[in-house]
Amino acid sequence: MSISIRTFAVADTDAVLALWLDAFPEYRDAGRPHRDPRLSIANKLGTQPELFFVAVRDESNADDDDESGAVVGTVMAGYDGHRGWLYSLAVAQDARRLGIGTRLVHHAESALAARGCPKLNLQVLSSKPDVLAFYDALGYRADAVVSLGKRLSMQEPEASA
Ligand SMILES: CC(C)(COP(=O)(O)OP(=O)(O)OC[C@H]1O[C@@H](n2cnc3c(N)ncnc32)[C@H](O)[C@@H]1OP(=O)(O)O)[C@@H](O)C(=O)NCCC(=O)NCCS
Repeated sequence: MSISIRTFAVADTDAVLALWLDAFPEYRDAGRPHRDPRLSIANKLGTQPELFFVAVRDESNADDDDESGAVVGTVMAGYDGHRGWLYSLAVAQDARRLGIGTRLVHHAESALAARGCPKLNLQVLSSKPDVLAFYDALGYRADAVVSLGKRLSMQEPEASA
């Protein structure tokens, strides 16, 4: 399978949503309504959209009747001036173990390094040993930290003057 990695385009939205609903069971969990993949995409388009990447099956190999089948992987990155972060890494079930996840992570790492980002952090659910094995294979190690979080009440972003 010949794959290219490029920046997300709005036309990829439905294909990405389909991929995430399959790859992330938590998006189908009615008990976690705050996990809204469409909102995640909209928010990312408002904040460093150039760090949202998709892996796309090259045209010559794609099924002409199935445009949505072209997107086979995603990753979102962000840089806050101190650390880089990685989110929403996913590869379609039928395209796994072909090195696409590795390519997506390396692509995001390069984009962050090019911005002067010195370190990349990410979080993996402890219930996903396969994902931990994937990141271990890419050289990621557990830091001696406790991950803390707090949910904020969201407000409309202030309009720029
Ligand atoms: C994690 C994920 C992105 C990996 O994508 P991928 O394209 O299959 O990964 P790669 O082919 O680049 O794998 C590279 C190496 O990682 C390790 N690895 C990958 N998947 C693995 C698994 N399920 N179990 C154990 N090791 C694994 C292997 O060492 C592999 O090399 P190998 O195939 O030569 O043995 C993919 O499994 C996925 O989309 N999972 C569901 C979504 C998810 O949970 N994402 C992470 C959110 S934090």
